[in-house]
Amino acid sequence: MEVYKNPKPLCFSLLLSLSLFLFVFASSFVDAKILQHDFVVQETTVKRQCNSHNRITVNEMFPGPTLEVNNGDTLVVNVMNKGQYNVTIHWHGVRQMRSGWADGPEFVTQCPIRPGKSYTYRFTIQGQEGTLWWHAHSSWLRATVYGALIIHPQDGSSYPFTTPKREAPILLGEWWNANPIDVIREATQTGGTPNVSDAYTINGQLGDLYNCSSQDTVVIPVDSGETNLLRVINAALNQQLFFTVANHKLTVVGADASYLKPFTTSVIMLGPGQTTDVLITADQTPARYYIAARAYNSAQGAPFDNTTTTAILQYKSATPCCSTSPVFPSLPAYNDTNTATTFAASFRSRTKAEVPTDIDDNLFFTVGLGLLNCPPGASASNCQAPNRTRFTASMNNVSFALPSNFSLLQAHQQGIPGVFTTDFPAAPSLQFDYTGNVSRSLWQPVRGTKLYKLKYGSRVQLVLQGTSIFTAENHPIHLHGYDFYIIAQGFGNFNSKTDTSKFNLVDPPLRNTVGVPVNGWAVIRFVADNPGVWLMHCHLDVHLNWGLAMAFLVEDGFGELQSLEPPPDDLPIC
Ligand code: C2O
Repeated sequence: MEVYKNPKPLCFSLLLSLSLFLFVFASSFVDAKILQHDFVVQETTVKRQCNSHNRITVNEMFPGPTLEVNNGDTLVVNVMNKGQYNVTIHWHGVRQMRSGWADGPEFVTQCPIRPGKSYTYRFTIQGQEGTLWWHAHSSWLRATVYGALIIHPQDGSSYPFTTPKREAPILLGEWWNANPIDVIREATQTGGTPNVSDAYTINGQLGDLYNCSSQDTVVIPVDSGETNLLRVINAALNQQLFFTVANHKLTVVGADASYLKPFTTSVIMLGPGQTTDVLITADQTPARYYIAARAYNSAQGAPFDNTTTTAILQYKSATPCCSTSPVFPSLPAYNDTNTATTFAASFRSRTKAEVPTDIDDNLFFTVGLGLLNCPPGASASNCQAPNRTRFTASMNNVSFALPSNFSLLQAHQQGIPGVFTTDFPAAPSLQFDYTGNVSRSLWQPVRGTKLYKLKYGSRVQLVLQGTSIFTAENHPIHLHGYDFYIIAQGFGNFNSKTDTSKFNLVDPPLRNTVGVPVNGWAVIRFVADNPGVWLMHCHLDVHLNWGLAMAFLVEDGFGELQSLEPPPDDLPIC
């Protein structure tokens, strides 16, 4: 009898836990899909402004394919390089938990995919919902190699706002009539600034205000009364952009794949790399209304592309459709920093944020431009920045240099010496009036491949301090592999005694790219819970070329789940 006393409850509890396990297993995995895509990178003919241009594209599409996934899905993207340039693809904003090998920045997490070669990116979307995007992360290829990455809620759950009738990605881009690769090559030679673009684009099209373009203007049809979701992405290379729709209010509900407390505005501003999800209700007289974007240019006196791109919001019931020209919106002035600041200050995370309060690594990085004295032996033609110099840029006076024979991640994982050092300074070695009249002797940074090492789980606070060296401007700083809370922003020099009173530790927005105000600062916080090597850089590509970057090396924690995965077999080597 004794023997039979226990089996029943044991059996019962086994059954119970088995079914519980199956339930949990089923509810968490039943909907997760593995989605496979092929990206063929190749030269394609693109007609713009009365001419045919050969440009690198993905699958002969410009912009490239929109990827749609649900939170929890795994993406497997095979990239075949059939073009003549090296390429890599970066999944901008995807956390890449433990899968740093799939992040994409050239010479940081992988060597480039050489012409004729291929590489398969595999990663899982974990806990992110909203709009992200993908783009080439090699030279200036991303001018034409980019697309939307839309993350819907897990199957069975819905948006935390009115379900929109329709959704449309709005990719803002920047167009050169010259080959963008030639534009940056020339600038690298001369040391000067690259030529500004010839146009901005909405979903690859220039719109009605440019030569030979109006027949291809993007039209977004709507029915009166419906509420739609626009997923706006700034994919421009070098320009912050204002975006608006004539006569319509925009309700901001998310940014960088995190939900926000909704707020209403007539204009939004995005730095390159940023995304913003807005609801728009068709509550105006049935007609055609311009959707428009143009520059927010914070740098005084710097040349910029001052053109305006348009698309059309078209009420289907408007009759006759096209007898009158669309209503044109008013846009802020190019240098309207007030509007940009007010907009950024309206961001609150939708729910209570999990901001770290005890800080392990307290960091202070200056971000800004510089001028290099003409290197000995260089000819004047290579030093065409002001007073026979070359433009440069830096963080904490280190101008970031990429390696060429190993990726940083590979060098870290395999312990290859001589590729990088881990002495990136936690603070500037010399304190000065960052936003004042900076002495010329501080304009010249040093080149280096310096990483900052973080222990797994470290709680990080980072002050990003803009400088006025050469020209102060708004820098959109992007961190790979992480989202961070933007707990405060301001103008002038950050004051660690008084500015802490501005910290929002309750509901600050969670983003992957922060616009550091012109001649100002931003404070961000994150927990280093993703091991690997993660680039942080200005998303104005020209500044990245000049070295406005650094990288974090986040060490493994304990056990497999806190460690970087092994590299995939087809990882490109240099
Ligand atoms: Cu969107 Cu390092 O890039």
